[in-house]
Amino acid sequence: MATTTFLLLLGFIVILTTPLQAQIPVHFVPISWVQNAILKGAVCLDGTPAAYYYEQGQGDGANNWLVFLQGGGWCVNQTDCFNRATYGGSTGSTKNIRLSIEFEGALSNNQTNNPDFYNWNRVYVPYCDGSSFTGDVEAPDSVTNVTYRGARIFRATMDDLLSRGMNGAQNALLTGVSAGGLASMIHCDRFRGLLPWFARVKCLPIAGYFVHEENLRGSKQFEVAFDALIHLHGSAGMLPPQCTSIMTPSHVSL
Ligand SMILES: *[C@@H]1O[C@H](CO)[C@@H](O)[C@H](O)[C@H]1NC(C)=O
Ligand SMILES: *[C@@H]1O[C@H](CO)[C@@H](O)[C@H](O)[C@H]1NC(C)=O
Ligand SMILES: *[C@@H]1O[C@H](CO)[C@@H](O)[C@H](O)[C@H]1NC(C)=O
Repeated sequence: MATTTFLLLLGFIVILTTPLQAQIPVHFVPISWVQNAILKGAVCLDGTPAAYYYEQGQGDGANNWLVFLQGGGWCVNQTDCFNRATYGGSTGSTKNIRLSIEFEGALSNNQTNNPDFYNWNRVYVPYCDGSSFTGDVEAPDSVTNVTYRGARIFRATMDDLLSRGMNGAQNALLTGVSAGGLASMIHCDRFRGLLPWFARVKCLPIAGYFVHEENLRGSKQFEVAFDALIHLHGSAGMLPPQCTSIMTPSHVSL
C-alpha cells in the first residue's frame, strides 16, 4: 500500500516537474575561434586551432571581464599526450568541439543566480594543451607529431579578448579550476600586465595548487609530472624568473 502510494506520488511528481523544467530557458553561448591561431602557433596537442566561448557584457558590466580557464590535469609523457591528442576528445583537440555551450554558475547571465557577474563580459577557455596553458615548444614532437603550445593558446586568446574590448577593462578576474586554476596563478602577473593601468585585476585559482609530494606512498608520479611540464612541454619560460633563478624549474612549486 505504502509502496503504491509512493509510486503514485513519484509518478505525479515526475509528470509535474518535467514540463516545468523544460520551460527554464537554456542559455547557449557560441564558439569563437582564436584569430590567426595557426599562424600564432596557438594550437591544441593535435595541431587544431584554439577556441573559446565569449559573451559580451552589458550595462554597468560592459567594461568588466571574467575569464575562466578549464581544467583537466596534465599529460606527462609522449604516449600520454599522444593519447589526449588522438583519443582524448576536447582534452587535446578542437576537432569535434561543441559549437556552443551553456554558461552556468559564475558565467550565467541570470541576475538572480549570478548577481556579481551576470552582465560582465564572460569567457570560457577550453583546455586542450595538457600543460595548464604553459607549453611552448616550436617544433611538433618528432615521434608523435604532438604540439606543446599551451602558453601560445593563452597569449593568443588574450590578444583576441583585448581586441574585443578587454584593453579597456575596469575590472578583470582571471579564474579557473584545477589545471586551469594553476594556470590562473601562473599567468596572473602576465594577465595584469596586459590590462590597462587603471584596471582592478584579480586572480582566483580554484583547487589550483599542485603540491610536490615526493614521498606520497613512495610514488614519484608528481616528480615525473613536474619534470614533464618543464622538459616535454617546455614550460619553464612561463614560471616567474624570481623562482627559476634560484632553483631548477621543475622544483618550482607550481
Ligand atoms: C602533423 O600535424 C600537423 C598539424 O599540426 C599536420 O598538418 C600534419 O599532417 C601531421 N603530420 C603527420 C605525419 O601526421
Ligand atoms: C605515461 O603516463 C601515463 C599517465 O601517467 C602512465 O600511465 C604511463 O605509464 C606513462 N608511460 C611511460 C612510458 O612513462
Ligand atoms: C533565473 O533564475 C531563477 C532562479 O533559478 C529562475 O527562477 C528564473 O526563471 C531565471 N531567469 C531566466 C530569465 O532564466
